[in-house]
Amino acid sequence: MKNLKETSIRIILENQAESGAYVACPTFPTYRYSWLRDGSFIGYSMLLYGEVVSCEKFLIWVNETILKKTSKVELLKEKLKAKVEITQKDFLPTRFTLDGEEVMDTWPNHQVDGYGAWLWLLSEFIERTGKTEYLSLFKESIDLTLAYLEITWNLPNYDCWEENGEGVHPSTLACIYGGISAISRHIPGEELTFLAGKIREYTLTLTVDNRFKKNSLSASVDSSLLWLSVPFKLVLPEDPVMVETINAIENKLLEKGGVKRYPEDSYYGGGQWILLSCWLGWYYTKTGTKEKALEIRDWVEKQADEQGNLPEQVLGIMNYPEQKKYWESRWGKNARPLLWSHAMYLILFRAISEKESDK
Ligand code: BGC
Repeated sequence: MKNLKETSIRIILENQAESGAYVACPTFPTYRYSWLRDGSFIGYSMLLYGEVVSCEKFLIWVNETILKKTSKVELLKEKLKAKVEITQKDFLPTRFTLDGEEVMDTWPNHQVDGYGAWLWLLSEFIERTGKTEYLSLFKESIDLTLAYLEITWNLPNYDCWEENGEGVHPSTLACIYGGISAISRHIPGEELTFLAGKIREYTLTLTVDNRFKKNSLSASVDSSLLWLSVPFKLVLPEDPVMVETINAIENKLLEKGGVKRYPEDSYYGGGQWILLSCWLGWYYTKTGTKEKALEIRDWVEKQADEQGNLPEQVLGIMNYPEQKKYWESRWGKNARPLLWSHAMYLILFRAISEKESDK
């Protein structure tokens, strides 16, 4: 697909609601909401391509949405202090309606990663635009998010794939660590650095065979482990534990340029995810293996349909092909266009161009 860059920017802008929220996928009914996780990377891609207003609108929407949850955070704090039983409903949601309301359904909603990711996006936004006024404009929602992360970071919650609610997940911890350390650059005092250090120390224990493991309860591998290095910098890309993690991702999850989520994945058959493929490419741009990044970019470009829409996953090479039909009959065809896929393509495209202009 030619001009996938321009098409991706257009698809994202066209699917940003008036409120500022980005819909996860406009054509897939189950994804008609806005996720803090997806949105943070979508907003970041807009920032990279000079679409500052789009990113700013998203941040303003997050700020307003989070503030509506103030009493929930206060209540959770009290419950944890009093050691009374807490349930999923006591935690902040991972996705909202485009008007910033909580979605009342039975789908696992207790995921903490997005709260770290938005703080990371906010500090990227401030640093790239110089709009430091947002530190005071958003003071309340920043403080609320930090208070929430401080009490929840080491509690079990659902992972970024909305599964495994009993575990604690390195990729979730990476988002929390990344968000806290990014925003700490703008907030005086040592407290946040200390908290980030504690989170890092704990995350470094979640390893097996000298590589990161999927979560506290599973030794499997998961491509979201990439987030530990890029962009959240909990470890350097060259760190031996990260390198070993990449080896496992390459050996078990990468095939012909496409990357799967994890070996046991059966969602829509468990195919190759555009966003994760781009993530691995992004990682390669940090380690100087540009050829490999280019190979992935080429593969991704071939996956766009005639209108330039990228899917969530490519259903060619699958873990459990027989599961594809089941999911199609339940939720319809695999989501397309997925805004997060387009965002990650844009991020990879920019990372490769930056490498090229370094020369
Ligand atoms: C994925 C999440 C994502 C959501 C919306 C889910 O299937 O597992 O990571 O946030 O879709 O894109």
